[in-house]
Amino acid sequence: MPDRRSLLKLFAAAPVAAGALAGAAAPAAAAATGIVKPLPPALFTVRGTNAESNFASFHDTGPLTPADRFFVRNHTSTPVLNETDWRLTIWGSGLHGSRPVEFSYGQLRALPSVTRTAFLECAGNGRSLYTTQQGETVSGTAWTLGAIGAARWRGVRLADVLRRAGVASDAVDVMPRGLDDEYVTGGVSLGRVRRPLPLGKALDGVILAYEMNGEPLPYDHGYPVRVIVPSWIGIASIKWVGDIEVSTAPLSSPWNTENYRLFGAAYPPGGSAPLTRQTIKSVFELPFGATVEAGEPRLLTGRAWSGAAPVRRVEISTDGTRWRPARLRDTPRRDGWVRWTAQWRPRRAGEAVLLARATDAAGNTQPVRTVHNTQGYLFDAVVRHPVTVI
Ligand code: MTE
Repeated sequence: MPDRRSLLKLFAAAPVAAGALAGAAAPAAAAATGIVKPLPPALFTVRGTNAESNFASFHDTGPLTPADRFFVRNHTSTPVLNETDWRLTIWGSGLHGSRPVEFSYGQLRALPSVTRTAFLECAGNGRSLYTTQQGETVSGTAWTLGAIGAARWRGVRLADVLRRAGVASDAVDVMPRGLDDEYVTGGVSLGRVRRPLPLGKALDGVILAYEMNGEPLPYDHGYPVRVIVPSWIGIASIKWVGDIEVSTAPLSSPWNTENYRLFGAAYPPGGSAPLTRQTIKSVFELPFGATVEAGEPRLLTGRAWSGAAPVRRVEISTDGTRWRPARLRDTPRRDGWVRWTAQWRPRRAGEAVLLARATDAAGNTQPVRTVHNTQGYLFDAVVRHPVTVI
């Protein structure tokens, strides 16, 4: 009996909308969201075409987020592609002789591989806290804190592919583009999802990944090949990559002009520079409003990460005034997150607010408040995590 993946592949000679293909075998959520994998409510909150991981459910996972719990951020729907037909085309004025170069899946797999563990986080992760915690209005998907996961990515260096394609010495930007449908918003098509990377960055640590946690990439996470830009905002990591433009002139797309910059009173009228690295966060693996028992010792657990540098320290406070160090369970690493624990014996029944504050090796510490931006990106303030002591 072929498994679900082989069946899907069998039918998938050409890109097909996930909802249509998943048919009766898939849960109802798939048809509505365009996401292929099951989205059990204990593990995910569906937000339009996206699925947010339930951060509290990471409690029983290791340092890597299993693919079946990993958040999905889709502008449209998951295309079910086929590795036999898939091609990567490198093209543009920044190639020697401006001649496009094509790679098949087999050719890519034959190149030397690299494996990197890295978190992947949406720039808008934590967006809803601008409203719930800071009383501010922001636009975009109202993520709480589960638009993040960490995985072990295997693939080839984008640098190796670009060098084989023959990058000209005066190339400045590269722009990977996805094979998913064009993104239409407000009746206007912004084209297929794409965002430029400076050539220097493209040559430095960027992976064309074909495996996630030792398995072929799942459909929803970019099968057969996606870009991974460790520590950068999620939009840089283009899924289902089909072509990469290499240019001698700076490139732009709506994903680095209108979106993924900071706009608002604190920023210039044209917005900040395009966003690159993720910010710093520390989050309890506990539902908001969880009940805990007075007088009973309780092991609080959580995770912290920063796009700038490894996490150096996490402190927690259960009374809003005194801070004490949490114990880090993992060796802090660049591009990764650390799990941490702290003991707590709540004394009195009533409402309490738990706080966790991370500091990274570059000296960044979570502030009390994040400076507002209209699209709610890069929330980094200490999260006020409500619990009820009974
Ligand atoms: N790539 C394509 N082709 N289409 C998309 O919609 N979403 C981006 C990025 N790459 C997107 C994409 C965004 S905003 C994020 S946060 C990450 O993919 C999410 O990756 P995931 O769905 O594997 O978690």
